[in-house]
Amino acid sequence: MCDFGKPHPHGAKDFGFLVDVPEVRALVDETRRLTGKIADTAARVDALRPAFGKLLAADGWLPKEYGEPDLKSGMGSGIGQYALYRAEDGSLCLFSLVIPAGAETPVHDHLAWGLIGVYRGIQDETVYRRLDDGADESKARLEVARQQTVKRGEFYTLLPPLDDIHYVKTVSDTVSVSIHLLANDTACVTRHRFDAQSGIVTPFRSGYSNAKCAERRV
Ligand SMILES: [Fe+2]
Repeated sequence: MCDFGKPHPHGAKDFGFLVDVPEVRALVDETRRLTGKIADTAARVDALRPAFGKLLAADGWLPKEYGEPDLKSGMGSGIGQYALYRAEDGSLCLFSLVIPAGAETPVHDHLAWGLIGVYRGIQDETVYRRLDDGADESKARLEVARQQTVKRGEFYTLLPPLDDIHYVKTVSDTVSVSIHLLANDTACVTRHRFDAQSGIVTPFRSGYSNAKCAERRV
């Protein structure tokens, strides 16, 4: 592996610890440890809560440029998606998502278990329930399952297919930054965006603002 034990300036590579600081390593190490120890996904995600909460509570570890909007974003609306850690085998990633004030993501899915929490600003999350059986890949029937406001240090879990479809809006008057720990290479897998009104489902790949996707995962 090229990504362990060597100092790299952040942004200089596509995999491994793009932000190589003790706070990020501690969470990735704990995720690896618990993934090997706990087979049940819900129990594993629950066990990760303390380590994830610790990263959200820590100050000073996120590089300034990974907390800023990206006007060329694959998510649109200036939303920046910055890889902080990526496993080369696509089994785990940690990234920051920066949403400008008043902007919102499309309605989208994630296709992996994980934890998502707010590091700066305030976000409103709207979660959808899928009413159809998913047999038609181009159409979905969605209804709002719940809405919640998420503030600094607060987080929620993803356990697909439960609660996997949502959108997020920044409701603070400054950008919001959320931190995502997910068990895939989220920005590089083909996911789906949903038009909640028409039900049209469109495949999409958001891409990272600071790292390339491997073509094999297209
Ligand atoms: Fe999301």
